[in-house]
Amino acid sequence: MVDSSGDMLRKKTVKDFDFADKRVLMRVDFNVPLDGGKVADDTRIQAALPTLEYLLDQGAALILCSHLGRPKGQVLPELSLRPVAEYLDKMVDAPVSFVEDCIGPEAESAAEVLSPGHILVLENTRFHPGEKKNDPEMARQLASLADVFVNDAFGTAHRAHASNVGVTSFLPAVAGFLLEKEIRYLGQTIANPKRPFVAILGGAKVSDKIGVIRNLIGKADQILIGGGMANTFFKAQGYAVGDSLVEDEVLEVARKLLVEAGPALRLPVDVVIGDEFDADARRKAMGMGQIPDGWRILDVGPETIAGFAKVVAEASTVVWNGPMGVFEFPRFAEGTFELAKAVAESDAESIIGGGDSAAAIKQSGLAEKVTHVSTGGGASLQMLAGEALPGLVALQDK
Ligand code: 3PG
Repeated sequence: MVDSSGDMLRKKTVKDFDFADKRVLMRVDFNVPLDGGKVADDTRIQAALPTLEYLLDQGAALILCSHLGRPKGQVLPELSLRPVAEYLDKMVDAPVSFVEDCIGPEAESAAEVLSPGHILVLENTRFHPGEKKNDPEMARQLASLADVFVNDAFGTAHRAHASNVGVTSFLPAVAGFLLEKEIRYLGQTIANPKRPFVAILGGAKVSDKIGVIRNLIGKADQILIGGGMANTFFKAQGYAVGDSLVEDEVLEVARKLLVEAGPALRLPVDVVIGDEFDADARRKAMGMGQIPDGWRILDVGPETIAGFAKVVAEASTVVWNGPMGVFEFPRFAEGTFELAKAVAESDAESIIGGGDSAAAIKQSGLAEKVTHVSTGGGASLQMLAGEALPGLVALQDK
């Protein structure tokens, strides 16, 4: 497998191309949460603005494409990108129009009459089954709308689809600023970290993070484990975990990881348990030991928080992916938010993986205090696992 960490050094970016009077197809990740047909979190839209504004300044006519949700190749009106286009229209000075398909005659005519300095947003690429199949015909039709392709969709870079990989067979293809920035933080910083380098991993499942743990063993000075995934390690060590979430199918892998990592891998020394999986569950803190039946681990305990916070305070690089507990329930949110505080207060270069940990740092109001919050969930995990991202690999080398 190719390590993504050095890839960006070899890839062309928007700085390597002259966009004057060019039609540019830009792949963005506008897969944003909608609430009642309105954009509920605009982080990914904001993150695309530097590239978007740069290209407009350079005199490009800008055609934006993205997926939204998982419509499985069907047209689902609730997953239309129209509300996102309307939102974007309010954010930028340039005129923004929208077309109800991403390929075909309507898209072609709209792209053809698009003037430099204007933006056209195409409808959800996943309304076509060819998108996820990386169908060459769909890619050819999308590419025919433009003269050059810019990929700024870091959040989708772990997928090999028609709109981010297929199109690169038909057009010169370069990276946008967001893609470049994400690769710099997640790839290069981790490949050459300032030490001590501390990784904090949480979230429900160990199975999602086996590749990440393997890749970080030997690279990170300490790997702090919290969240539901710690339960599987506890069971692997022989503890009774009551009704806690456990992945029995990876117990053996967990045992091996504990041996491979040795003392670098730290598990919680105390936990907070609840008598049901519910916001109003009864709550008890206890030193890690045999968890009674009928109870389940829902957060890390105060001693663990203090211990992890001390490690973070002494770190020079911190990477955090995955919450420490069920932070959606205020009673079980302390571990996650206290750790967010510790990361934000440390002088370390701090990189937050996307998804739940990004949501937690934003909810705690501390996102401004960390070095980088990734816009990618699956993509950032794939990078942390040291695996190549197809969306990046497909771009032109310098
Ligand atoms: C994400 O939100 O992680 C990306 O937009 C990719 O979405 P997907 O998991 O549906 O491919």
